Amino acid sequence: MSVVGIVMGSTSDWDVMNEAAQQLKDFGVAYEARALSAHRTPAELEAWIKDMEGRGCKAFIAGAGGAAHLAGVVAAQTLLPVLGVPIPSKYLKGLDSLLSIVQMPKGVPVATFAIGEAGAANAGLFVVAMLASTDASLQGKLAAYRAKQAETVKNAKLPEL
Ligand code: RP5
Repeated sequence: MSVVGIVMGSTSDWDVMNEAAQQLKDFGVAYEARALSAHRTPAELEAWIKDMEGRGCKAFIAGAGGAAHLAGVVAAQTLLPVLGVPIPSKYLKGLDSLLSIVQMPKGVPVATFAIGEAGAANAGLFVVAMLASTDASLQGKLAAYRAKQAETVKNAKLPEL
């Protein structure tokens, strides 16, 4: 059962979106990742969303660049939470992607993350947090992850002058 659907507008987005997949993998959360475009393959995208819903999907993570309408189009077709990741673009460096995803009109929300790798990783971690609210084992793993992160910061030594 794929609990999370990861979708991106192009295979060129995978360099960034694999960060979301990696987080889910690290926490043992099953996912399915596909490259499906809102404008190049709209019928296939719609069919995949319905198929994922039928297979017990709990959330979608959608990454796209440029006029990035993918996450909004996914949100329009499901009641499940949709998390949007703006992919860096060549000329506007992902600001176009960010504004396209974050400025959803009232009524059909997309939770929007930072541009690029950090946003993709955080989208994965956010889904983990959502699932952990009803999964004690996952909650334990998330607590351990945070504690390890805190230890790294506490033990960090700055260079001497
Ligand atoms: C968007 O256009 C994709 O999400 C990608 O970020 C961008 C460029 O796609 P390619 O031209 O690399 O396929 O739809």
